[in-house]
Amino acid sequence: MNFENILVHRKNNLAQITINRPKKLNALNKATINELSLAFKELEDDNSIKVIILTGSGEKAFVAGADISEFAHFTVDEGRGLARIGQELLFDYVENLSTPVIAAVNGFALGGGLELAMCCHFRVASDNAKMGLPEVSLGVIPGYGGTQRLPQLVGKGKAMEMIMSAGMISAKEAKECGLVNQVTTQEELLSVVEKIAGKIVSNSSVAISAAIRAINASFEDGVNGFDVEIEEFGECFGTKDFNEGTTAFLNKTKPSFRN
Ligand code: COA
Repeated sequence: MNFENILVHRKNNLAQITINRPKKLNALNKATINELSLAFKELEDDNSIKVIILTGSGEKAFVAGADISEFAHFTVDEGRGLARIGQELLFDYVENLSTPVIAAVNGFALGGGLELAMCCHFRVASDNAKMGLPEVSLGVIPGYGGTQRLPQLVGKGKAMEMIMSAGMISAKEAKECGLVNQVTTQEELLSVVEKIAGKIVSNSSVAISAAIRAINASFEDGVNGFDVEIEEFGECFGTKDFNEGTTAFLNKTKPSFRN
């Protein structure tokens, strides 16, 4: 599929999506959100893709937020629709993908940009990255899941401070508070992320998607994550990957997962 605002590149079992509006610091306009949603769906449906890496084009920004020029004149109903459609189409969708998604945060990740990084399964940042949810400085609040996912990752107090102050934190601070897993130089960012992805690729995709569902269940309202874990654990015993993994271990060989 051809896209105007994003680039999709496949390499072996990995896919990289690059948000490609560098002149606008990769701000998320409606078209970009639609294209991202389509690209994620296409990659999720492609069994050869085991890990998706999401990054921004240029050296300055991952994504500097939702495109302010598009919503500056919205009404209350339009504002509500913007958040609801965005969450359903992209942010919740990515969080619940069965293919692991890693955000390679290569610069500013602000507002909708940080919300996008946060809905990925985990994040690695370059040392120039700056992260924050500055929405209250615009008279609005985060609408793409930021008020929910930031406290999950950094704790309620730190999330309150970041959202209320509208400030930015450095990559180093983001690592200290658990927002990103690792910090690298900008030059090494993608190779470091690809190295982590390489480790994921060698494991059972079927088991990894079960793990994503079980982990996500602990953050769902009215769902008992331990029960989901029991179910998902049990289901694994009926898969070819389980047979392959345990047989290989007992035979002291390397498993070859067919998923
Ligand atoms: N929406 C729309 N356009 C944006 C944008 C956004 N969220 N963030 C940056 N841009 C555009 C700027 O308008 C500018 O466009 P122009 O050259 O046509 O005027 C271009 O990207 C470059 O941004 P600029 O502000 O000139 O870069 P800078 O280095 O001076 O500042 C930031 C960088 C990230 C600090 C600044 O762009 C910023 O504060 N952006 C908005 C962040 C925000 O509030 N995000 C949350 C939105 S809900």
